[in-house]
Amino acid sequence: MAAPVLARELLDAARAPEFAEWQRGVRRGIHQHPELAFQEHRTSALVRAELDALGVAYAWPVAQTGVVATIAGLPGVTGPVFALRADMDALPIQEMVEWEFKSKEDGKMHACGHDAHVAMLLGAAKLLQSLKNDLKGTVKLVFQPAEESHAGGYHVLKEGVLDDVQAIFAMHVGTALPVGVVGSRPGPFLAGSARFAATITGKGGHAAGPQHVVDPIVAASSAVLSLQQLVARETDPLQGAVVSVAYIKGGEAFNVIPESVTLGGTFRSMTTEGLSYLMKRIKEVIQGQAAVSRCAATVDFMEEKLRPYPATVNDEAMYAHAKAVAEGMLGEANVRLCPQLMAAEDFGFYAQKIPAAFFSVGVSNDQMGKIHRLHSPHVVIDEGALPIGAAFHAAVAIEYLNKHASA
Ligand code: NI
Repeated sequence: MAAPVLARELLDAARAPEFAEWQRGVRRGIHQHPELAFQEHRTSALVRAELDALGVAYAWPVAQTGVVATIAGLPGVTGPVFALRADMDALPIQEMVEWEFKSKEDGKMHACGHDAHVAMLLGAAKLLQSLKNDLKGTVKLVFQPAEESHAGGYHVLKEGVLDDVQAIFAMHVGTALPVGVVGSRPGPFLAGSARFAATITGKGGHAAGPQHVVDPIVAASSAVLSLQQLVARETDPLQGAVVSVAYIKGGEAFNVIPESVTLGGTFRSMTTEGLSYLMKRIKEVIQGQAAVSRCAATVDFMEEKLRPYPATVNDEAMYAHAKAVAEGMLGEANVRLCPQLMAAEDFGFYAQKIPAAFFSVGVSNDQMGKIHRLHSPHVVIDEGALPIGAAFHAAVAIEYLNKHASA
């Protein structure tokens, strides 16, 4: 079967009324019960129940709540192993959209569309399972916890369940693209991201006697200004990078110099090397400027608790493969070259280890009202994207196995 034909047939199958209704039901069920990072117990149970119903085997728990399903060809088929990944966690946001399937959990919402990601990957499981006997290798479907801030992808990889995987693919819903359109770009796509929190300590005292104090406010001010030069003066102007000081706290009275000041923020780079460079320099600049003002500084990158995310870099060959599959399925005009984004994704951990492609799948529809971005309490998605996601996942995997199966 030629590639475009297969991808289109998969899309037709996923758009069949019964299939699409089942997929919508899955997404809506998850949408009503959003769960935060590493708390996806109910979502994980739903995924396992659907896999059980399909007769698909899986490993669980992986990284606490994660599920890794395996669909393999006939016994004796020893082809490549390909992975598909969806994230399962929601955000601490109160949903403001009034609709029948509004979040029932106070202060929690699937505002990043991970509910749709799970429904898309379960849709792919259903399609792949129906074509199981023709698979020229093995597909692993990763239902991953804790994408938001908690590096679930890192923890899944650490468990070794993907050690035998040759390539990996994932999608994220995108409100910048209309439903029916997908897009990505070769090379760096999403930024690497990390945080810093610093404490500058001097010697507090009466603000009228500066000679008796060591002023951390002046030291912090110098540090904040010097940090601006890391991007402006030390980074290739053609390479994306950000250093933002997002908070600064110190002092409470008009006439008291405080003992210490805390400040912190985020920094990002389109390359993982660029992120490491910024990390090294942020520490040097804050400690150096503190020393100039006779203060001491500690800088914490919270690497264990909130692990920095590497840049999401698309492998050129994997990007080309997924793009060709998408063009066969949706037509060339509906596959776009996307700009780089300073947003970050823990898919970067997989892409660092395994040839990877990450695509954006359009979910916006101006007929449904004003378009809100992801992470907005008002965001809505066009569920017409669900069958597209299912078919895109399945077709990328099947065509990869076909291409790389040893004759
Ligand atoms: Ni997300």
